[in-house]
Amino acid sequence: MPKQKIKEKKPKRKAAAEAPEKKFKIYALLRGMHDVLPREEKYWKLLYHTAENLAEHFQFSRIETPLLEEANLFIRSIGKGTDVVDKEMYIFEDRDGNKVALRPEETASAARAYIMHGMWNMSQPVKLWYWGPMFRYDRPQAGRYRQFNQAGYETLGDGDPSADAELILVAHNFYKDLGLPVEIHINSIGVPEERQRYKTALVEYYRGKRSYLCDDCKQRLNKNPLRLLDCKQERCQPVKEDAPQIIDWLEEESKNHFTKVLEYLDELAVPYILRSTLVRGLDYYTRTVFEVYPVVGDTETPTYVGGQQSALGGGGRYDLLVQEMGGKPAPAAGFSLGIERSVSALKQYMDANQIKPPIQKFDAYLAQLGDHARRRALKAINELRNSGLKIDYNFSKNSLKSQLEAANSLQVPYALILGQKEVQDGTIIIRDMESGVQEIVDQKKVENVLKKKLSWFDDDKKK
Ligand code: HAM
Repeated sequence: MPKQKIKEKKPKRKAAAEAPEKKFKIYALLRGMHDVLPREEKYWKLLYHTAENLAEHFQFSRIETPLLEEANLFIRSIGKGTDVVDKEMYIFEDRDGNKVALRPEETASAARAYIMHGMWNMSQPVKLWYWGPMFRYDRPQAGRYRQFNQAGYETLGDGDPSADAELILVAHNFYKDLGLPVEIHINSIGVPEERQRYKTALVEYYRGKRSYLCDDCKQRLNKNPLRLLDCKQERCQPVKEDAPQIIDWLEEESKNHFTKVLEYLDELAVPYILRSTLVRGLDYYTRTVFEVYPVVGDTETPTYVGGQQSALGGGGRYDLLVQEMGGKPAPAAGFSLGIERSVSALKQYMDANQIKPPIQKFDAYLAQLGDHARRRALKAINELRNSGLKIDYNFSKNSLKSQLEAANSLQVPYALILGQKEVQDGTIIIRDMESGVQEIVDQKKVENVLKKKLSWFDDDKKK
């Protein structure tokens, strides 16, 4: 047998060199998903702290529920026929064949937790707050994502109008604390029997005007008549303007409840706009419903940007939900705020009014020069951190000039400078960033000297 020549495979150098470009796919985001990048962090932190602070003041306890729940939890509570359930839920079967859903909102989960953990046995009301991602397979556009975040507050076990007013006050305070002007739109949609009678009257009215309606409204007329009131099409506006108003279909008890909520708001000086067409898109609401809208433009000439799309948040009373989910009857109310929309509205407002975003405040900037100094610097930063001082630094910068420039742009009051000589002597330079005056201090004393300069010991407490 002739000897077969075994061909040695030569490494394809050129191809290998080109490989990174050809072989590796750069992944894009799924449609409707987005990253929150470090440059956005200051706004997110600000919103989170504002939400947490309000929860503390108004005594809402934090609840965290799973992102994934039984699909029926949302179908039953939000309701078949709503856009969220019919079109927007991420539903799939898990490996055991259970029908599960990524939560499109958290009110249903909070009610489930209230029932499941016997919270109705605790002193009422139970006030819960949450912050986290929700999922809706909606058509993505500006301010509308498939994964977005909400901060929410729920008061379970309290049917008094004061609970509605307290929640609206929290929503109002949230934007007031952020310095973002908003409008609160409010309405009452009554209890199911009142709403049913109203729907009949509404359908009767709209049927007579069918030929003037847009195609969507013609469908809404049969499928979900209350959504007729949400229509933004110009041709439907004259019909909408003369439509019967739900408030006229409310009985004494619902009317009284609503009047009391409004009286509370007047007393609290929380401004609101009565909007008779506000009905909300989820089925569980009874009586009070409200939404928050941004007011854009500069402070002199603010302009309201209406429309469903730009609602920053919304909520209302849902007295029957707990009972309908198998719990002991417990009236409840709540609201959620969209974080992405709130961040975007806040940025827009700050830009229009030339307001600078908040910057993270550091007590000092540590500048280092050379290898030895860098090693000592990391230790010093850790020691100062343990004593409660917040020190900024950047080890990729080597020149003193660029480090002092960084300190300057961070607006820190002091820079700590550590060079080879200081490492040898066991000292460190403290530079007053405003006056430029420098002082050499013993490294062991730097913590105390710095705290004294920062007035930490005045009033015998940290600043
Ligand atoms: P919602 O009106 O469906 O209410 O959502 C509240 C807020 O979440 C909206 O006003 C909006 O800012 C934000 N949001 C909703 N969908 C999206 C989206 N696709 N992309 C970005 N942001 C969005 C609820 O979720 C109820 N659970 C509120 C509630 C709490 N009612 C009683 N308690």
